[in-house]
Amino acid sequence: MIAALAGLAPHLAAVEREMAAALADPEPRVAALIADLGRFHGKMLRPALLLLVAESLGRVGPEHHRLGAALELIHTATLIHDDLIDDGTVRRGVPTAHVRLGNTTAVLLGDYFYTRAFALVAGLGDIGRIKRITEVTGVICRGELHQQVVARDTSLSEAEYERIIYAKTACLTELAAEYGALDGDAGQRAAAAEFGRLCGMAFQIADDCLDLGGDALKVGKTLATDLERGRMTLPILRHLAAAPDRAAAERRLLGAVSAEAVESMRAEVVAGGALASALASAQRLAAQARAVLAPLPPGPGRERLAELAEFLVARDH
Ligand code: IPE
Ligand code: IPE
Ligand code: MG
Ligand code: MG
Repeated sequence: MIAALAGLAPHLAAVEREMAAALADPEPRVAALIADLGRFHGKMLRPALLLLVAESLGRVGPEHHRLGAALELIHTATLIHDDLIDDGTVRRGVPTAHVRLGNTTAVLLGDYFYTRAFALVAGLGDIGRIKRITEVTGVICRGELHQQVVARDTSLSEAEYERIIYAKTACLTELAAEYGALDGDAGQRAAAAEFGRLCGMAFQIADDCLDLGGDALKVGKTLATDLERGRMTLPILRHLAAAPDRAAAERRLLGAVSAEAVESMRAEVVAGGALASALASAQRLAAQARAVLAPLPPGPGRERLAELAEFLVARDH
């Protein structure tokens, strides 16, 4: 368990109960399929972010558990689809849904998880919250599409990369923090949302670094998929930008199809310093995130948010 989340255990358990209730199914065979999948969960970072913001503002209530469950369901749906797209075969330390159940079932399950998330938020009866989760889910899907259309485009700018990672990852962490700050004043809500956005940006850059430099056993998922899929992540963009012969580096990158060529490209990006450069950018974003927490009341909740931001860029999983 991540240190910053230690005190959240009872709340995270309540989030899990909300998720289980949302996925309960009267059809025994469908229920068995979902139960099999539901046993494996990840770090629960999005609900944790929401809960820590709520805690820092003085109150965690049942609506926070429900909103946290909805965000974790959206996140899980994106991962089920993402692993199929990226051909990731291991996630959260176990074989991925499409490997275990086949592509068709994985697509259907991901779709179903999205609808269960919307139903959870709709059950709270607040149109503003429903509007935000539907909006954000649309932005995530558009971000994944955007990433797809720029695959293998070595002319991608860092600015466009940032727009992609905001869309696919940081808009969900932004919403998590925003949902957690519903009881706050306008300044606190804005600060929380900005904290969530910056954490998401830092988190995705760190993830892109883990893809190249992480230990698959610790991370619990298939790595080096970004190179294989032609994803122009920040370490790869920085590697191209710093290459003495850019055209040659681009040719090696685009030609990295075999396992051996992918591995040698990976080693080149790490050895050339681009990985360290990208990680330093993630650390700067995490520092900015900690700095924007000032409007939240000082106390253990705010401290733990700062610790969470630090964990996101120092993690090995
Ligand atoms: C992985 O997210 C997907 C990305 C957005 C990079 P997490 O690392 O939070 O995954 P889990 O939920 O802990 O498995
Ligand atoms: C996933 O990004 C982002 C979403 C699921 C929307 P990645 O493809 O980098 O995530 P991992 O590395 O497979 O977890
Ligand atoms: Mg992936
Ligand atoms: Mg990744």
